[in-house]
Amino acid sequence: IFLTGLVVFSCTSIKQNKMNRQIAFDWQGHRGARGLVPENTIPAMYKAIDLGARTLEMDVVITRDKQVILSHEPFFNHEIATNPDGTAVTIQDEKKLNIFQMSYAATQRYDVGLRGNTRFPQQQKMAIQKPLLLQVIDSADAYAIQKKKPLPFYNIETKSQASTDGVFHPDPKTFVDLLVAVIQNKKITDRVTIQSFDIRTLQYLHQQYPAIPTVLLIEGDDKRNLQQQLSALGFTPYAYSPHYSLVNASMVAECKKHNMQLIPWTVNNLAEMKRLRELGVNGIISDYPNLFYFP
Ligand code: G3P
Ligand code: CA
Repeated sequence: IFLTGLVVFSCTSIKQNKMNRQIAFDWQGHRGARGLVPENTIPAMYKAIDLGARTLEMDVVITRDKQVILSHEPFFNHEIATNPDGTAVTIQDEKKLNIFQMSYAATQRYDVGLRGNTRFPQQQKMAIQKPLLLQVIDSADAYAIQKKKPLPFYNIETKSQASTDGVFHPDPKTFVDLLVAVIQNKKITDRVTIQSFDIRTLQYLHQQYPAIPTVLLIEGDDKRNLQQQLSALGFTPYAYSPHYSLVNASMVAECKKHNMQLIPWTVNNLAEMKRLRELGVNGIISDYPNLFYFP
């Protein structure tokens, strides 16, 4: 009876967790607000909160000393990073600056905001380092409270792929266990989703941490149909998150049929946002939260 009670309780709370999430249209700030502030940094999260994002999208990797740190690449990208001696990181050297082989302390010697980003000319330039996930959660929650905004949701992407296991990141189990430890420590399970192109991390999450909703990311050049993608995954995730160019009315209908949220990325112009919203998507991920609208 005790065990049955536990199962009923945990199924009910998983269901409740899913329902609580589906109240509002889910405006998500991509890498915080990459179009305006250096990506995957605490000021980028503040900007997204200021501009009305409900969810903060971000990417994480793992340091040598097993810290979960925000970064799109598992190394210092030559487009945005500055060496400790003030020179720009070069394309030849970037992969040698492998975060999985560096201590967290060593990562803090590199700047990722001073140079700006030529692909995002409106981005503010500032001295800034890659933050730990736990610092981001503490800071963003505190900022939302201070600004009298709702506490943000977190859409956290595991950056991994089978071909670089043990080189740029740990195996999926180790990666996910480290990430979930931060989520549980910060008590944000009811405000988090974990997204990935790497279905291995989603499969392990689904099996080991069923209370944490998963998001299946789909590349723009993926030629499989939705049913084939779900079959490869092996279960129905909480959300389906394709490149926005793939979204059409039949995809919207199919996601509804599967009771999956449909949240395309990365939409950076207002006309496209309106088209997608009219089609019936449940949320939009954008580098420009200043384009979000609230009818
Ligand atoms: O949320 C999905 C989107 O962030 C995936 O693309 O390369 O910007 O992480 P990427
Ligand atoms: Ca991402």
